[in-house]
Amino acid sequence: MKVTVVGAGNVGATCADVLASREIANEIILLDIKEGFAEGKALDIWQTAPINLYDSRTIGSTNDYAMTKDSDVVVITSGLPRKPGMSRDDLIATNAGIVKTVTENVIKYSPNAIIVVVSNPLDVMTYCAYLNAKTDSKKVFGMAGVLDTARYRAFLATELNVSPKDIQAVLMGGHGDTMVPLPRYTTVAGIPVTELIAEDKLNEIIERTKFGGGELVKLLGTSAWYAPGAAAAQMVEAIVRDQKRIFPVCAWLTGEYGLKDIYLGVPVVLGKNGIERIIELDLNDAEKALLSESAEAVKGVMEVLDNMNATA
Ligand code: LAC
Repeated sequence: MKVTVVGAGNVGATCADVLASREIANEIILLDIKEGFAEGKALDIWQTAPINLYDSRTIGSTNDYAMTKDSDVVVITSGLPRKPGMSRDDLIATNAGIVKTVTENVIKYSPNAIIVVVSNPLDVMTYCAYLNAKTDSKKVFGMAGVLDTARYRAFLATELNVSPKDIQAVLMGGHGDTMVPLPRYTTVAGIPVTELIAEDKLNEIIERTKFGGGELVKLLGTSAWYAPGAAAAQMVEAIVRDQKRIFPVCAWLTGEYGLKDIYLGVPVVLGKNGIERIIELDLNDAEKALLSESAEAVKGVMEVLDNMNATA
């Protein structure tokens, strides 16, 4: 299996490192526009192989897409990260241009690749990749829900003092402040979370999750990378190993949840064909209202992109 990671910044390099050290792909191409940068990161990662005892090979490239030829999966992390005070949407103009160019190059050399988008603003950059890839929407989707759910699960694990392994949860909607964690679908080793935690504490955790990315931007002065990189790698693993894992993924909706022509986070089954199935939960009215509020917010930013394209 060959996987390309475009963008050798913190998220891309972390993703490549996880893909290599867990032997998720045997060949990993790390590509960046900055001269020598991807080569340096890839060489450093490769030099961990004799220490960590694996044989997956990571190779760097300065913008030479020919090296990405026939990739099975491509992860796009390119673009500027957030600075303190910025929302993810503030990045749209710059990152849309970058994601468009990257996607065109990726598809030129790997027309059958499955594309996992990580660039922000996530839902709209996934839409941007889809428009430019001109491929099946089941093969172009975004990483957000795995990360947002991981944050939610980590906060719950801390609060309950239990293993994060035992916390299962679903989180839907856009990768922004309107994301929709679903307490009704959150369990701890099969026990509904509401039986283990007071309502106000759970609500606090939900609020913290919604702003989980922003909390890290404030602390670090830039966006997070360990969890985002690992989350993208976990999605790649589900695809290359055809695991049929159920993850919340930013997917193109064609009527599911009463929504269409929009990229939004929903639970899906991920396997060798990409999104193999979108799972429709029986949401109650309050959950539906939160999801449609989130969809409105994402639609608004999608329109900004459509207007940019119309005047380009
Ligand atoms: C975050 C960025 C990667 O949520 O969107 O940390």
